Amino acid sequence: MSIIKFIKNLKKINRTLFTTPSHNQGRGGAPCVLNLLGKKFFSCDISEIEGADNLANPIGIIKQAQDNASHIYNSKSTFFLTNGSTSGIIAGMNAVLSRNDKVLITRNCHKAVYNGLVITGAIPIWLMPHYNRDWGVYEQVNLDYLEETLSKNKDIKLFVMTNPSYEGLMSDIQAINEICKKYKVKLLVDEAHGALWNFHKALGTPALLQGADIVVQSLHKTAGALNPSALLHIGQDSDIDPNSIQQSLNLITTTSPSYPLLLNIEGTINYLNSDKGKFEISQLVKNVNRMIRNLRAVPNLEVFTYNNDVTKILVKITNMSGFELSDILFEKYNIEDELANEKSVLFLTGIGTTKSKLKKLEKALIEISSNNIKITQDEENYNIFSNVEPRVKYTPALVWKMPYKEVELKYAISRVSMELILDYPPGIPILIPGEVIKKEHIDYLKNRKKIKVLI
Ligand SMILES: Cc1ncc(COP(=O)(O)O)c(C=O)c1O
Repeated sequence: MSIIKFIKNLKKINRTLFTTPSHNQGRGGAPCVLNLLGKKFFSCDISEIEGADNLANPIGIIKQAQDNASHIYNSKSTFFLTNGSTSGIIAGMNAVLSRNDKVLITRNCHKAVYNGLVITGAIPIWLMPHYNRDWGVYEQVNLDYLEETLSKNKDIKLFVMTNPSYEGLMSDIQAINEICKKYKVKLLVDEAHGALWNFHKALGTPALLQGADIVVQSLHKTAGALNPSALLHIGQDSDIDPNSIQQSLNLITTTSPSYPLLLNIEGTINYLNSDKGKFEISQLVKNVNRMIRNLRAVPNLEVFTYNNDVTKILVKITNMSGFELSDILFEKYNIEDELANEKSVLFLTGIGTTKSKLKKLEKALIEISSNNIKITQDEENYNIFSNVEPRVKYTPALVWKMPYKEVELKYAISRVSMELILDYPPGIPILIPGEVIKKEHIDYLKNRKKIKVLI
């Protein structure tokens, strides 16, 4: 039986529950919340009652749903995550790494990878992606640089990378995987933004089909599921033990997983894999491609189209910073983007993005670019970290409990940071606890008065 069917049936069998959650299918829920979410939502919110299985050790309906997903995705095993890709990344790292193991990480990783460093006690080695100043984005993993780094550090156990990048840039996972396998390094791909890829050929190629050992996907980012639904897959040919993933997930996730999310994950996967779901994805691809074609014909406006995921639209307008463009869109057109940088603006689309919504954005962008009289370039906000090699003095795990003090920014140079500093979004670390603070960091943080450093 599916999770959805089990929950639908619950009403029919009229079981009297003396279990958590105490809202009792909504009867005890706060009226204002009930009003907003509806009683139906509450009635799906159950605990591990008889027949509902247990996400921490699935043997019934959850196992069946995960096995079905594994079949659809062509994985060795698939795990449902109700704590987002964040939990999948941490659990994946924890399953492979022990304290003081070396892990290679692309610096444009999400902060979840930092959390994984704290939990595992592993030593990070950073792979710095090339920074594209024209667009204000990090580029794909450079294969020569990867090979060189792995050949110099023979004891690296795991390579953690993000694909596609937050802005949609796609790396050559097959080639990366071959290099990793040559050096006996496991590959974990944070594919949080690639959850539609398994269902349409015009999108990127899923890392799972290119040999990655562990792949983590957020179903809520592009694939239409509720926040924070995600999946962790183990690759078909990987020797990662599914039990080690389960144990790691159990270590860091709640013992009361949300059944609304579990049934949502199950339903979303089946929908994406259905004719209707695939049709909707193909409509999305068609509509975005049409919009991009139209925008490319507009003077003074550029769309990033170099080997990137079509669901992420990166746009810039001549003589206007991304921040300025973002402000105008918000204030004049009531359009909110995902992210702006000094050069460009990122718009995320997904299975719920309609043609009319894209048209509204297209019209606004065309209007702004034709009326563009601004010529202020916000050069000061340039990503000054593009060429700053992180200097790791202590592992994040070691620093976690070390004594620290706050010092004025000007006294912080050469000291060791106790703070995780990042802009969110995209959640890419600028400074990680345990790293040496350099002049570039101080320059960037000039609006702050103090910073926490190790004593
Ligand atoms: C690249 C990347 N990885 C991981 C995550 C974390 O995903 P989740 O929100 O599903 O925990 C994010 C969230 O923004 C992300 O952008």
